[in-house]
Amino acid sequence: MHFSTAAVAALTTTAFAAATTRADCHDYVLISTRGTGEEQGPSIGFKGMISQTLDKVPNGVEYDTVYPAGDDQNTTEAVSDMIKKIDDGLDSCPDQKYALLGYSQGATAVLDTLNSDDLSAAAKKVIDAVVLIGNPYRLPNQESNVEGAGSVKKTTGEANTLSTKRIPKAFDESGKVADYCYIDDYVCNDPDASKDDETGHLKYGSDDTLQHAAAQHLIKYLS
Ligand SMILES: *[C@@H]1O[C@H](CO)[C@@H](O)[C@H](O)[C@H]1NC(C)=O
Repeated sequence: MHFSTAAVAALTTTAFAAATTRADCHDYVLISTRGTGEEQGPSIGFKGMISQTLDKVPNGVEYDTVYPAGDDQNTTEAVSDMIKKIDDGLDSCPDQKYALLGYSQGATAVLDTLNSDDLSAAAKKVIDAVVLIGNPYRLPNQESNVEGAGSVKKTTGEANTLSTKRIPKAFDESGKVADYCYIDDYVCNDPDASKDDETGHLKYGSDDTLQHAAAQHLIKYLS
């Protein structure tokens, strides 16, 4: 048996390409969508839960949604970016699973994604977990509403009751969604234009109890 140098090079390249493709695939991707005014990159809201999840469940990776996170609350680019990330994954890494994490405007973007007609049935199937913090469209008494760790199940806000940005019923009933809202975060709890107390809205990232609880949720659904 004799291989020319070129043939050997071709074989090597092919083997390398295959290995590269597999290495690029992960068991899961944590898609993190930051809040208004945060710079492109990891959100301050999820650092603890993301690192704990990556430590505990092997072969995961974080991805930060690319969008402006501007004051105008325009989530269009975030929605397209999340859906593209999942659709690309379905093509190149069909076994990959996803968790969607959204903070504040990022939570709105996650709701817009879950409700988007552009999110295919196949894409919905590979979303194994969702974590929302400081969700401006939070509704009272949803299955997804977490109670404990400073978070309340029954938000008092009525302004949101007619919101079209709901957690889709199938997701809400699936157990996969954890929606955290501190009692003193008026972005998600009793959103009343006359109140602008956002003290609680900025505490999620530095609360070890909440970060640990959310990590346990992610670990449970991604394992
Ligand atoms: C939101 O952003 C998209 C994409 O950048 C843009 O096409 C659209 O016009 C914006 N919507 C509003 C209401 O500004």
